[in-house]
Amino acid sequence: MLLIFVTPNHKNSKQMSKKHDPASAIQSLKHFGEFGGVNPSITDSATFTFMTEDEMINAFHGEAPGCFLYSRHWNPTNRYLSESLAAMEGTELAWVTGSGMAAITTTLLQLCNSGDHIITSVTTYGGTFAFLNNYLKKFNIDVTFVNIENHDSIRKAIRPNTKVLYTESMTNPMLQISDIPALTEIIKGTDIKLVVDNTFTPMIIAPAQLGADIVVYSMTKFINGKNDMVAGAICASEQFINDISDVNTGTAMLLGPVLDPLRSSMILKNLGTLHIRMQKHSENAMYLALKFKEAGINFKYPGLPEHKNFELFEKLRNKDFGYGGMIAIDLETAERAAPFMELMQERGVGYHAVSLGYFKTLFSNSGKSTSSEVPEHIQEEMGLSQGLVRFSVGLDHDIERTWLLIKSCLVDLNYL
Ligand SMILES: Cc1ncc(COP(=O)(O)O)c(C=O)c1O
Repeated sequence: MLLIFVTPNHKNSKQMSKKHDPASAIQSLKHFGEFGGVNPSITDSATFTFMTEDEMINAFHGEAPGCFLYSRHWNPTNRYLSESLAAMEGTELAWVTGSGMAAITTTLLQLCNSGDHIITSVTTYGGTFAFLNNYLKKFNIDVTFVNIENHDSIRKAIRPNTKVLYTESMTNPMLQISDIPALTEIIKGTDIKLVVDNTFTPMIIAPAQLGADIVVYSMTKFINGKNDMVAGAICASEQFINDISDVNTGTAMLLGPVLDPLRSSMILKNLGTLHIRMQKHSENAMYLALKFKEAGINFKYPGLPEHKNFELFEKLRNKDFGYGGMIAIDLETAERAAPFMELMQERGVGYHAVSLGYFKTLFSNSGKSTSSEVPEHIQEEMGLSQGLVRFSVGLDHDIERTWLLIKSCLVDLNYL
């Protein structure tokens, strides 16, 4: 049985002459449903039939392009979403996973063998930190944690067995911006791969266009935008995607972190509105950042010149999508942050919950939640305050109303 796909009409970074336009790249794809539907049909089959034994044998040897074997390997619905994500990033291909952590761990375990070495930004999502700091010890994979802004420390950390330089485009929760082109320069001429988690800034930053080898996502966040599932993605060269899905040696094929195709079909439909959602998240976050600034609150937002990476962000970002929906304020202690978040939830600012990229505003104390895996002395070293309240700003129609609610909480707690 042969299934033919419409080939995505995108080019990889080296062929690209015009500015990369992730929204148009997604929009230009044509994925028809079985009966001419405007959404591609969902293939919820675990396995696929073959007319002849020869065809099946060829498929298992990777010699039957367009054939599907088994959904842990590839599934047509996952393929549609993967092609759309590849178009968005301008990579040759992508592969979709059951969570963001699955995308990260699959990538790192494919790139590293026992005895290898990784250099990573110390500021990453707490789960990523825990995997790098605790879990990889099982495989004798050494990890050096650096301040990703200190390029000298990266150069000094490189060893003959270094396989990966890892960072987040906009780091969680410090909202630092990684200088992806400079990082690419540092590893030029080596075998080191630059892996970038772009979860906070889809469409705003295009890491592969800036030189990253592999881009990973938690699609749980902005890409899906509905907070109704966990999912992830790996965007990379065709070779790398073939490597992870190889039936004999591929980490994705052998550890089995594949995304369910029903979930893929849901994400694919949400991807079509991502560009508009990112614009609105950014617009609302900028509004709040300006209000925090006016009120004299200690805040972090890389979209204003007060942020140390503002100029770099200006250089790297796609100006069509703003500066992102993530903002943080520093209330100094966990004891001051707790009643503030509880009151904001009570008054309807949004939800006191981890995660991000939802249409409602979410807030949490990073040091006590999504970065709690990072030991306190390291939190201190990276400048993570115990009172840092991170906001993922929602798609609120009336953001002035939201600000007035936040302000009322600050005033009633005597913080303003
Ligand atoms: C930047 C970043 N990367 C990866 C992840 C992990 O994603 P998931 O929860 O989908 O496994 C998160 C989760 O919060 C995150 O914030």
